[in-house]
Amino acid sequence: MVAEKIDYVAEIARLKKEKNAVLLVHYYQIAEIQDIADYIGDSLGLSQQAAKTDADMIVFAGVRFMAETAKILSPNKKVILPDFNAGCSLEESAPYAEFKAFKDQHPDHIVISYVNCSAELKTLTDVVCTSSNAVKIVESFPKDQKIIFAPDKNLGGYINRVTGRNAEGRPMLLWDGACMVHETFSGKMITDLKAKHPNAEVVAHPESEESVLKLADYIGSTTGLLKHVINSPHQEFIVATESGILHQMRKSAPEKKFYVAPTSKNGHACKACSDCPHMKLNTLEKLYLCLRDETPEIILPAKMLTDARKPIEKMLELSAKFGL
Ligand code: 13P
Ligand code: SF4
Repeated sequence: MVAEKIDYVAEIARLKKEKNAVLLVHYYQIAEIQDIADYIGDSLGLSQQAAKTDADMIVFAGVRFMAETAKILSPNKKVILPDFNAGCSLEESAPYAEFKAFKDQHPDHIVISYVNCSAELKTLTDVVCTSSNAVKIVESFPKDQKIIFAPDKNLGGYINRVTGRNAEGRPMLLWDGACMVHETFSGKMITDLKAKHPNAEVVAHPESEESVLKLADYIGSTTGLLKHVINSPHQEFIVATESGILHQMRKSAPEKKFYVAPTSKNGHACKACSDCPHMKLNTLEKLYLCLRDETPEIILPAKMLTDARKPIEKMLELSAKFGL
């Protein structure tokens, strides 16, 4: 007997309606999932949507820390995700116990955490930030405020440089974490590619290393990068962030040309390194199955939900104040 072929797109639409579910999608998802999103955006936009949705269920096509953030903001809703194993190298870099010990050694510091961390780590945090509001959030504190920034040393280093904290000798203490995708972009190979496309602008996500950010004409979150390439008079772009964003860039500016920034690992060119192995775990089939079976579901202890909510709400309040 031949198994019946399932039309995943049609079935996902049917199940969403039946269950009053909203599908939130990050730009790093595969094109087929991006194309059926109810909302597609960067980490800040997705948290804002999760906080205000009136759906009964949130289906999060992204990675686990994003779905956890949605659950923390909407604790009474069911939050499901296609693959529970979709983690993040930044989250893994900052285990709770190690980070707590570090924080305890610096009692006069506040903690600003990048949203790419566990819900547990957020309970040790004063304010959460994303790549689109990180600079403004740090700047909202007095210059002499001592800060621990975790877990991304590249984003933290970028903020130290932009806010002048380095020059003034009051840099934030940086946790030693990095994104496994962004740290593979190669400054040398980007320079070579730029020589072949001299009119191309280099745009980069601030999770990239300093050697890459130095080459960038524009640095911003995924939403920032997308808006920039749409509005820029340039026709060609070298894009240093996860490859998924190129789908939206090509859809939004079909007349322009986009090249994924080249990556290298252990001194060798690496074609697939700009694909996040966590983000790319999600497929249409898994998305269909998670909606049908309502699992895997994000379930967090009540105390963690309340404690992790405070620094995320603080971020949303500050972002609203900044008009973000
Ligand atoms: P943004 O969504 O803030 O651009 O961050 C990208 C990212 O690394 C998500 O994991
Ligand atoms: Fe984490 Fe990097 Fe993947 Fe984003 S792209 S989920 S930061 S590993």
